[in-house]
Amino acid sequence: MKIVAIIGARPQFIKHFPFELACKGKVELVTIHTGQHYDANMSEVFFNQLKMTQPDYTLHVGSGAHGEQTGKMMIEIEKIIEETKPDGVVVYGDTNSTLAGALVASKMHIPLFHIEAGLRSFNKKMPEEVNRVLTDHISDLLFVPSAISVQNLENEGVRKGVHIVGDIMKDLVQYVTQNDLLREHVPKERNFYYATIHRPYNTDEKDRLKHVLDVLEQLDKKVVFSLHPRTKNLASSYGLNLEDYTNINFIEPQSYFSNLGYLQNSDGLITDSGGMQKEAFWLKKKCVTIRKETEWRETLEDNANVLVFTDLLKIKEELQKLPKKWDETLYGDGASGSKMIDKIIQFLQ
Ligand code: UD1
Repeated sequence: MKIVAIIGARPQFIKHFPFELACKGKVELVTIHTGQHYDANMSEVFFNQLKMTQPDYTLHVGSGAHGEQTGKMMIEIEKIIEETKPDGVVVYGDTNSTLAGALVASKMHIPLFHIEAGLRSFNKKMPEEVNRVLTDHISDLLFVPSAISVQNLENEGVRKGVHIVGDIMKDLVQYVTQNDLLREHVPKERNFYYATIHRPYNTDEKDRLKHVLDVLEQLDKKVVFSLHPRTKNLASSYGLNLEDYTNINFIEPQSYFSNLGYLQNSDGLITDSGGMQKEAFWLKKKCVTIRKETEWRETLEDNANVLVFTDLLKIKEELQKLPKKWDETLYGDGASGSKMIDKIIQFLQ
């Protein structure tokens, strides 16, 4: 049995690793990297650090407007699917690479399997929301992390092929913590908050980005800010001088281990990332999410994660409020990769 997996952006490399491990000895896996993320520290570092197999195909599509980027990916993916004739296609999450792969597979009548299906922010202005809704509606198997996602799909009339398997990112966090792989990557620094901000609604207007940075500058502890290239480029285009922010230590995008290392050592996370809300939960770190809504609604229970968007001055007090408990079972048992591949094999037989 041959499966093609489509990856392209940083969070997908992370999700691909445990899936690749789960496929070993069971199916032939062919990987297409669209090239959506291409900087060494946005892409290559994950392959090297996690010792992942290099992609079989790399498309070098790069950055661009949504239509241009997605269209270019589709043209190239279609050719490879023609050539490799897989029994199924796997896509992860909600990026433009996800949608491109999903559309091609569906139009070529190749069974489509969506890992991290059923998530909803109910905000169609987010490109990710459009990508995930469309992908879910054309997928044959939908692997969801929790009951809320099953309900989201049911509300849209999607019932067939839905399986709760937990979250594949938990597989990896569990693997890394159980094998003590973070040890060498935990920074010496203490007493800081960790921050990552890259979503359009926080970065695409000068006043908004400036306000976010001004609030972080005023926090009671130092902020270590892992700077996505999109945020860096936009800050520079607005004429914001990041060196003026003396309370914020801007660092390059981090490898998987270093990112978790910073999170592990921090006194809390300030983010608009999807995946890091969960990683903070599993590492028992308070998370303040700079968004109006989250797809990961379970993390909001007991205040482990809190949404702050309009009144950013609340970030400070929210970081102090710790939850009474952390549900160790949130998003599965860390074995979702093998559950998914078994369901895929069963489906294709
Ligand atoms: C994409 C995903 C988002 C995910 C994020 C993780 C979509 C619509 N969005 O957003 O869901 O949370 O990845 O990082 O697919 N850039 C570089 N080097 C790179 C990659 C990007 O400089 O290697 C810069 C470019 O200026 C580019 C911008 O970042 O235009 C945005 O990149 P893009 O891939 O379009 O979206 P992300 O913001 O990374």
